[in-house]
Amino acid sequence: MNLWGGRFTGETDRKFAEFNASFSFDRRLIFADLRACKVHAQGLGRAGVLSTEEVGSIMRGLELIESKAAEPGYLESTEFAGSEDVHSFIESRLVELIGQTGFKLHTGRSRNDQVAVATRLFLREEAVRIDEVMRIAQEALLDLAERYAGDPLPGYTHLQKAQPILFAHFLLAYFNMLARDRARLADVVKRVNVMPLGSGALAGTNFKIDREWMADRLGFSGVTRNSLDAVSDRDYILEFINFAAIAMMHLSRLAEDLIIYSTQEFGFIRLGDAISTGSSLMPQKKNPDSLELIRGKAARVIGHSTAMLTLAKGLPLAYNKDLQEDKEALFDTIDTLSDSLIVTSTVLGNIELDRNRARAAAITDYTNATDLADYLVRKGLEFRKAHEAVGQIVVYAIGQGKQLQELTLDEARSFSPLFEDDVFSAISLESSLAGKNQIGGTSLEQVAHELARARDSIKA
Ligand code: ARG
Repeated sequence: MNLWGGRFTGETDRKFAEFNASFSFDRRLIFADLRACKVHAQGLGRAGVLSTEEVGSIMRGLELIESKAAEPGYLESTEFAGSEDVHSFIESRLVELIGQTGFKLHTGRSRNDQVAVATRLFLREEAVRIDEVMRIAQEALLDLAERYAGDPLPGYTHLQKAQPILFAHFLLAYFNMLARDRARLADVVKRVNVMPLGSGALAGTNFKIDREWMADRLGFSGVTRNSLDAVSDRDYILEFINFAAIAMMHLSRLAEDLIIYSTQEFGFIRLGDAISTGSSLMPQKKNPDSLELIRGKAARVIGHSTAMLTLAKGLPLAYNKDLQEDKEALFDTIDTLSDSLIVTSTVLGNIELDRNRARAAAITDYTNATDLADYLVRKGLEFRKAHEAVGQIVVYAIGQGKQLQELTLDEARSFSPLFEDDVFSAISLESSLAGKNQIGGTSLEQVAHELARARDSIKA
């Protein structure tokens, strides 16, 4: 039965009824909606709108629906396939269970404030779960970083070799990104956690419902202050999706780095069988599909962000049915981010660093040229002149097919008399790393310190 039959004499077109229905996906909100329904019933009781017996009978009915809904397959049963949405589903079941009193639950409420309160409750809980899988991904980054705490890797800019770094420093970069994502999520939750119930369809309600009491019962930090805004606001969904889009962008960048590092050309890491796939044609292949999919799935979430902005931007106040389209975007964002985080953690647990190859790559192709220039600076030369001299040395060394550390002292001195015996130790891989000993730098000491700090910050 429709919730809105009275004004209608004709039948709803069958295709349109299907088009209009959202139960197949918004049934996911059922537990959140039931929680809000119970507090609404109690609120109506306190306002004197429902008798104590009526409240009791509605509460029992809602609890029965709750336990039924927890049974596997119940919500998916074909018997309910024609339900319009989760809200009308709850009312229909309630009336079946407790009779006419069930029709009183919707007093002073609209589906417009109902869906908003249910979605906020749902998202608040999902945010806790997402935060935990993000924390686990951070843990996986740290586990890997600690396993290879002293191992070097070439660092890149423009994907051209730049300077030696530690592999752990590289991983900590991503740890920091996820830390910011978690802070962003906590900030979004502040605005999710405000209660719209009591806004009615758009104007508020005629019944003296104590909104602040209801908000308190539902664990909200406060109530919305404008009914029109409350029923048409989807900022909290958009903000969550944007948080997720940024997090997915980070996972995608990590995936891209790891894909590159696992190629034969780079060969710094090996990916385990558990997270790789083969080719149906080429017997030798081992492909990083797990990482490619994470990179690919970032596109979906970015798409949802665009969809939500586009959905909301042309809407007149207050509620419009367009807003029903928010749910699949939100649900898919939650699932995609959550799965991508879990797979990222698994991938990180299945990575081996080729220590020798990474170390050799870190100190070849003139990655210590800056250290050589800094050496001249310490001997008194202006940096710009040191830069110029080392540039010429690099050109010379390339011509000789030598690394900087393979030049003789005489060769070096032909470019500057400031070079002495101590130049070789100054441009070794160890000195290059050890030199970067300011906060945030890639020295062993700094990285060990940051690893410890990071560990500390994610204690569950
Ligand atoms: N299923 C609807 C949605 O998700 C619930 C709100 C319906 N409100 C209405 N006035 N038709 O947006």
